[in-house]
Amino acid sequence: MTEAPQDPVAVPAESPARPAKVERFQTLTGMRDVLPPDSARRRALVQMFADTVAAAGYTEVVPPIVEDLGVFLRVGETTDVVTKEMYDFTDKDGTRIALRPEMTAGVVRAFVQHKPLLPWKVWYAGTNFRHEKPQKGRYRSFEQVGVEALGVDDPDLDVEVIALGWRFYESLGLRQVRLQLNSLGEGQDRARFTEALRVFLEARAGELSEEGRSTLARNPLRVLDSKRPEDRAVVAHAPMVADHLSPASKEHFERVCSGLDSLEIPYAVDDRLVRGLDYYRRTTFEYAADALDAAQNAIGGGGRYDGLAEDLGGPATDGIGFALGVDRILLACDAEGVFPAPVAVLDAFVVDLVGGDAARDITHELRAAGLSADRRFGGGSMKAQMKSADRSGAAHAVIVGSDEADAGEVTLRSLRAVANDQRRVPRARLVGELKAAARSTPTTRDPSPGSQQEIEEHS
Ligand code: HAM
Repeated sequence: MTEAPQDPVAVPAESPARPAKVERFQTLTGMRDVLPPDSARRRALVQMFADTVAAAGYTEVVPPIVEDLGVFLRVGETTDVVTKEMYDFTDKDGTRIALRPEMTAGVVRAFVQHKPLLPWKVWYAGTNFRHEKPQKGRYRSFEQVGVEALGVDDPDLDVEVIALGWRFYESLGLRQVRLQLNSLGEGQDRARFTEALRVFLEARAGELSEEGRSTLARNPLRVLDSKRPEDRAVVAHAPMVADHLSPASKEHFERVCSGLDSLEIPYAVDDRLVRGLDYYRRTTFEYAADALDAAQNAIGGGGRYDGLAEDLGGPATDGIGFALGVDRILLACDAEGVFPAPVAVLDAFVVDLVGGDAARDITHELRAAGLSADRRFGGGSMKAQMKSADRSGAAHAVIVGSDEADAGEVTLRSLRAVANDQRRVPRARLVGELKAAARSTPTTRDPSPGSQQEIEEHS
């Protein structure tokens, strides 16, 4: 007799009669559920981002959330994101894998694997995982939207990418965003600068904080953006990256700056801006929201990563991109009072006082005609059903009582009108009436700042 294969997860053969107390689970530390109406707001934000970047020729890429650990080790062997914060583990087959802490590495891995035509301009939206100390605006599971553009060594592409992020914030209605810009130089410039910085900082290691000294041992560049006062005092006299740029890097950076000037996008060159991942070369940038606390005010960032495709086994390919933090952007929107959750409403709510057939059939008929409709299950009194109709946010109640049913009609009652506004319509004309009403009053509030203003003006 052959044995049945063993289930790898041990399940007790018989469940205990009735456990005294059933354990109740909560989200893990630093992770959150996104519930309505916030979920609709996020969806609207991602849609607005998709529309913004699609209009500039970017198409969507969807890499897996899990990659071979090596993919991420290549992008940040000296960074906290990769060495301290990554969720990595051994898969059932022994492969070392990791939940992505960011999207760029996976996108460039996909580029190397699939060899698409150049230039490759893509956008993405997805969840990332970093085992950070949770606080407001810093989570262990967070969402990013972003773009990557590979195969073009032209500073005007840097301008295009930076401007896309800027315009997106503007389209959400955010006004208190600052753009900081820097150039880390090409690979060799960056290496020369890092060495000069290491020598300088090692000579003053005694003045640095303990964390500053440990960062120095791993990655001298990261000491530059330490927030500790002791480190800042030392860094104030440190060598400047601008003094280590090759003429070609300088020229590239000047063209980026003049391009932003031409597009009237304000920025500040911040010589101390180094970003938290190893792959950056030349242009780097960050968007900060002044409406948020300084510790978590980075709402997006990016830059060039010209050597990354090679590091991941592909041909030498230039690349640039950014990722914007959705969770923090929404906090900034709250702080500035812009981009409210869209209020999703229904075209109709069917109130059935004749046994349930009408609710079943009319909702089906309306949905098939492209309208949105809901009903209350289990019937109930007129009062109870009308309460559900009000709560649903529907524009109209479609009421079917015995009078209406006998006459082949329905009562159409506006749930928006201040005065009582209702009339009987033949059931055969219901779809047409509701469609005409939907055309004159759209049933979803667009969350863009313009329409929000209109809503305020009409209320
Ligand atoms: P990053 O600066 O590590 O860059 O992340 C980009 C944005 O993600 C941050 O500015 C922030 O808004 C958000 N973010 C990061 N960590 C957290 C967290 N723990 N909780 C909430 N939000 C967070 C990158 O990820 C690069 N891949 C950007 C890039 C794309 N560079 C080139 N292409």
